[in-house]
Amino acid sequence: MLWSLPLSVIVLCWSHVSSADAIPQRQENPSSPHEGTPRQAYNKIAPKVMILNMFNEEAKIWHESIPSLGKGSLWDKNISLGGLSPLYPQAHCTSAGDVCQATLGESEINAAASMAALVLGADAASAFDFARTYWLVSGVAGVNPKLGTLGSVALARFAVQAALQYELDARDMPANFSTGYLAYGTDAPGRPPKSFYGTEVMELNEALRDAAFDLARNGSGSGPLADDPGAAAYRAKYGVDDDGDTGADGYGEDGGSRNSSPNIYVAATAPPSVLRCDSVTSDNYYSGRLLSEAFENTTRIWTNQSQVTYCMTAQEDSAVLQVLLRAHIARRADFSRAIIMRAGSNFDRPPPSMTAFEHLLLLGQNGFALAVNNTWNAGSLIVSGILSNWDDVYGPGIPPTNYIGDVFGSLGGPLPPNFGSGKDVFGGKGAAADGSTDGFGN
Ligand SMILES: *[C@@H]1O[C@H](CO)[C@@H](O)[C@H](O)[C@H]1NC(C)=O
Ligand SMILES: *[C@@H]1O[C@H](CO)[C@@H](O)[C@H](O)[C@H]1NC(C)=O
Ligand SMILES: *[C@@H]1O[C@H](CO)[C@@H](O)[C@H](O)[C@H]1NC(C)=O
Ligand SMILES: *[C@@H]1O[C@H](CO)[C@@H](O)[C@H](O)[C@H]1NC(C)=O
Ligand SMILES: *[C@@H]1O[C@H](CO)[C@@H](O)[C@H](O)[C@H]1NC(C)=O
Ligand SMILES: *[C@@H]1O[C@H](CO)[C@@H](O)[C@H](O)[C@H]1NC(C)=O
Repeated sequence: MLWSLPLSVIVLCWSHVSSADAIPQRQENPSSPHEGTPRQAYNKIAPKVMILNMFNEEAKIWHESIPSLGKGSLWDKNISLGGLSPLYPQAHCTSAGDVCQATLGESEINAAASMAALVLGADAASAFDFARTYWLVSGVAGVNPKLGTLGSVALARFAVQAALQYELDARDMPANFSTGYLAYGTDAPGRPPKSFYGTEVMELNEALRDAAFDLARNGSGSGPLADDPGAAAYRAKYGVDDDGDTGADGYGEDGGSRNSSPNIYVAATAPPSVLRCDSVTSDNYYSGRLLSEAFENTTRIWTNQSQVTYCMTAQEDSAVLQVLLRAHIARRADFSRAIIMRAGSNFDRPPPSMTAFEHLLLLGQNGFALAVNNTWNAGSLIVSGILSNWDDVYGPGIPPTNYIGDVFGSLGGPLPPNFGSGKDVFGGKGAAADGSTDGFGN
């Protein structure tokens, strides 16, 4: 795919955010004693794509399948980096160093700690040059049946740390509360936070997200995604309502007049497709309609949107992005090159005919292998698209036209955060790595 940038986009380009010259360029190492050996032998590895997985099965499909791209194997180079997960202590790269992979470990703490080692650690600094690297999070997730299904692959604009709230057990909450979750500094559910930690919402480069979406769909249609009969059988349950007919009036929300309201889960009943919708991060592996709807609301309110955009839930995305944001400020990575790709391996809430407990624990949904396969089916097209359009498009980078970064405006840019308090803590200049800005004034 040829991607030419309209002039208006170039004019909007945030010089200190989007262009590779903002970050130190590759060390050419002219005084190296190894004259005569190939440059690659002593230069830092400058990956074009770094694939980030959370656990073994997510990584395995990339390790097994990458050779089919004809760019070598991820086992050509194994790089030990102090600070990575004890389970996954090495990053892996093809011999040319174009494509690399690391496994971070599961949940927010593992993801943040491993990412810090991978991007900011001392070993990483001597091994890698990440100035122009694309970061592709490739993992499985819980999927919202209002927007997707088992095996669907979603590319996010927002990652929301939705469980970062006060929580009352529902049995202790006031009778008029719809959920036990309330944002910090507020006294009722459904209100935006009054107090922020900074990681609540991370916004990605939407133009890159859309380019990745086109690549993953192979230009158009639903793309090359696999389907599975077992997953199809489970998703069909979302087309059957709680009185067992196919009218699918959800939970009888229409007050008993069956079949009069449209099925809110139509998307769940369709075959898998590539989607554009947002990712929730929560350490807590929640399941069920009420928690899922509560975090759906949290995502809508915190990102200042009017529609449901939350479609995937996992335990790492906000953590990965927060480290990339800090690495950007430290001039070690480019936040505008981050892609969050998640594939639905299980629904976040049950079909109308089942309880949350049955759905979570007692019944197989048959989505896991399908989701893992589809991270490759969609993700490999993103990777090969980046590699084959490197010189013209992806090497120079796709400038963001939306706000990117956290709730504080830490990366600066012409646009203030369009969510959260809308307060740009750094006055559009972004945070400085040299101590000239600090958070004490906030
Ligand atoms: C890298 O690690 C893999 C998996 O442990 C191994 O099979 C491979 O031989 C290693 N590559 C090198 C170059 O040592
Ligand atoms: C719940 O009721 C109390 C009064 O009993 C009221 O002050 C509060 O605003 C209500 N909260 C919601 C979320 O409706
Ligand atoms: C992508 O589409 C092209 C035709 O436009 C086709 O030749 C190719 O096989 C497709 N790739 C995949 C992975 O579906
Ligand atoms: C989600 O928000 C809607 C609209 O404000 C509200 O009616 C519903 O009760 C909320 N759901 C939960 C679980 O909080
Ligand atoms: C996943 O891909 C593997 C390897 O191609 C295949 O054997 C398996 O049947 C696929 N499973 C699903 C559910 O797509
Ligand atoms: C949220 O959206 C509303 C309506 O579009 C807008 O008036 C408001 O300024 C937005 N808030 C922020 C923080 O941008």
